[in-house]
Amino acid sequence: MTKLDAAPLGTDMFEAMASYLKDYKEAHAAARALPLPAPPEVDHVVFTGMGGSGIGADLVAALAAATSPRPIVVVKDYQVPPWVGPRTLVVATSYSGNTEETLSAVASAREQKARVAGIASGGALWTLLEREKLPRYRAPPDRQPRAALPLLFGALAGMAERVGLGSFALDEKDENHLHNVHVQLQPKLSGTEDTALAMAGRLHNRQPTIVAEGHLAPVAVRWKCQLNENAKMFARAEILPEANHNDLVPWAEGKSGPAEAVVLLRRRDEPGHVAARFDFLSQVVAGRGAPLESVEAKSRTPLGQSLELLMTGDYLSVYTAVLRHVDPTPVDVIGELKKRLERDGLARDARRRLGV
Ligand code: F6R
Repeated sequence: MTKLDAAPLGTDMFEAMASYLKDYKEAHAAARALPLPAPPEVDHVVFTGMGGSGIGADLVAALAAATSPRPIVVVKDYQVPPWVGPRTLVVATSYSGNTEETLSAVASAREQKARVAGIASGGALWTLLEREKLPRYRAPPDRQPRAALPLLFGALAGMAERVGLGSFALDEKDENHLHNVHVQLQPKLSGTEDTALAMAGRLHNRQPTIVAEGHLAPVAVRWKCQLNENAKMFARAEILPEANHNDLVPWAEGKSGPAEAVVLLRRRDEPGHVAARFDFLSQVVAGRGAPLESVEAKSRTPLGQSLELLMTGDYLSVYTAVLRHVDPTPVDVIGELKKRLERDGLARDARRRLGV
């Protein structure tokens, strides 16, 4: 059993997560009411954003894949594709509003005459959205971007719903279940039964590989990123069925590397062929003697399942940070890189192209 120190490490991250479901719901409702271009005016949708601001795009795109009548492309780079034009809606998300890739992508979208909407807490992106009266959602300031995920994901989901890509309102039964899951995840300094905390105890000195499929694929990526940024540790995300065609081999035959562990992100309604793949992988991993965790989302809907495993991974990453005795909040090296790149002038160039 794993016990937390009474140290205050992680307090601000826990605080930011305290209103997880409320944040998602409120942002979703607010963004769903935005005056976005009505469906026949838009043929394709591009989401752009980086890091903690970009993962919401992956989540919405993965959930919408089953329902969207229009193509959705996620851009995590400086430039939107050449086919983007007046019949494309480009939704940019940057919590700070100042990330140079996102600003450059928006500049290219504007130059290609796309319809632009956005999500930010301030910065150059917000200035542009406000000045041009573009459809926009303003996130409250003073969080780490990745800690604003429920808001950013909710806002993007609301916008996606508004333009007819799918329905992203929380199912009532799921909401009740998620509320209970959230209560279970919250830190109880005296308790030791918390599954996320117990799992953190088993993973914090290892290099976990998170495996998921379908709409949960970006959730595995979020776990990886949260372990990277909050716990300051290496982690990998592998997606099925693709990983069965490559990553499976070293589990069966590879020489041992860093202390390994595997986490499977599963759902109660996964199809038989998915279950067969997870079962096979589990056997191979067991044969290697690597610890294996399996976390099953009990929610009924794909959205509920995504939120359930997002919350679990977010809490797990903060518990893992605490057990590794690191402060989950600062990510100084990312700030240093942004400052270093600012000198090269691409962010300045993007702001000039946007006139902000
Ligand atoms: C920091 C974080 C980063 C940022 C990324 C983009 O908490 O998660 O991954 O999200 O550097 O910055 P923003 O979100 O301000 O566009």
